[in-house]
Amino acid sequence: MKQMLNVALPKGRLGEKVYAMFEKAGFECPSIKENNRKLIFENEEKGVRYFWVKPSDVAIYVERGAADIGVAGKDILLEYEPDVYELLDLDIGKCRMAVAAPKDFRDDSQRTLKVATKFSNIAQNYYNSCGRDIDMIHLNGSIEIAPILGLSDVIVDIVETGTTLKENNLEVKETIVPISARLIANKTSFRFKSELIEKIKNELASQTGEIK
Ligand code: PRP
Repeated sequence: MKQMLNVALPKGRLGEKVYAMFEKAGFECPSIKENNRKLIFENEEKGVRYFWVKPSDVAIYVERGAADIGVAGKDILLEYEPDVYELLDLDIGKCRMAVAAPKDFRDDSQRTLKVATKFSNIAQNYYNSCGRDIDMIHLNGSIEIAPILGLSDVIVDIVETGTTLKENNLEVKETIVPISARLIANKTSFRFKSELIEKIKNELASQTGEIK
């Protein structure tokens, strides 16, 4: 039986863009476009098997070798620090990690800052680098309401268009890091399936305008 390359794709809008890049790279799998609720698709002839997973889970599949390669946001890689190779910036899914607060918020550096976020590790590293004491409030979603209800002073979250902040009367106070989607590989797979992984990486790189 032919050896298959297992590819974890982030479910959702970003994942569809990513699949389109793989398709253009010559690794199409037409059944993936059929509108059903299946999560695994393969093209045996091309030797690829795709599966849709929650964007925040891609790195877990890749780190543990259930997927050989995958696409994850830089936010997830910075937050969870999975032991994987980061092969390529795909230059899509671009946004930034930022500190945001109500427009009239004035920081008092003498006070411990209350920070609400889904990205505790990124936030902690950022405030450590500033030498600032914080009270971390870990939330799982709807972060924007935390400062409105007085649960936190600021939030650390992803900002793409800025619409969510604007509609909740918040604004960016500091940008922490730019974010985009990255091609990642399992370390063992990269050794044993290097030819195919390199080929995919190069094909995808040519689509991002990078010469590699
Ligand atoms: C992110 C983030 C913001 C929103 C920002 O949420 O948490 O809520 O996008 O986008 P904008 O600047 O274009 O308004 P996402 O949609 O990824 O879902 P989540 O809340 O489940 O993380």
